[in-house]
Amino acid sequence: MDLKSKINLEKLPRHIAVIMDGNGRWAKEHGMPRVFGHRNGVKAVRETTEACTELGVEYLTLYAFSTENWKRPESEVNALMTLLVETIKKEIKTLNENGVRLRAIGDISRLPGKSHKTLLQAIEDTKGNTRMTLVLALNYSAKWEIVEAARKLAKAAKAGEIDPAELGEEAFANALSTSGMPDPELLIRTSGENRISNFLLWQIAYAELYFTPTLWPDFRREHLYQAIIDFQHRERRFGKTSEQL
Ligand code: IPE
Ligand code: IPE
Ligand code: MG
Repeated sequence: MDLKSKINLEKLPRHIAVIMDGNGRWAKEHGMPRVFGHRNGVKAVRETTEACTELGVEYLTLYAFSTENWKRPESEVNALMTLLVETIKKEIKTLNENGVRLRAIGDISRLPGKSHKTLLQAIEDTKGNTRMTLVLALNYSAKWEIVEAARKLAKAAKAGEIDPAELGEEAFANALSTSGMPDPELLIRTSGENRISNFLLWQIAYAELYFTPTLWPDFRREHLYQAIIDFQHRERRFGKTSEQL
């Protein structure tokens, strides 16, 4: 039986988040510069996006560039930004054909002008699509996002717009950049690293974590199916006992 048919479509995660990691090591394995790995990661992005859209996953969030990634060599950062622009331009038609809406989280105003402009244009051009939302985390870090939310709420409190005593989890979640989206139920990280690297700390409070040794450029539909099947075999108790479920 093929993997896809083992997926219970009634119990799909509504939101899947992915830390796409291992491009550099993949390039090294092929005796090529790191940028070669990033270029080959685009196919994995395409396959994952298409597979999620076909299955009926509502949100897919991809960690594409962290605030910490600015510390990489300038040539690699520039190559990543160029790749972003090229890829968005190339894929926009397919996104529209497949009903995929593009969104971004992170401080995207700090991206190079051209990348920022292309991204905003793509977000605008796909805003009417309703089949799936593809969220790119760009110049994103969870700590940055949480501090931004706190700042926003503190300002509103100071202006008398909100009462601090009334502030709850929902209001706080609404101040985050993921406002309006359900929390990811499944978080996948490729390349065998078992860490979160400052990604969606608030939103993954109860996500199921799935770590795979597969390097991102090798990640295909079947790897995604495997992760979803694994997710569907887990017992999500949310603090209760097994017997209570
Ligand atoms: C992930 O692959 C892509 C980005 C972080 C932009 P890496 O570039 O981190 O690859 P490794 O971890 O060095 O192998
Ligand atoms: C996390 O990967 C960021 C992205 C996938 C964009 P990194 O490769 O930057 O993470 P660390 O530095 O190994 O934790
Ligand atoms: Mg890495």
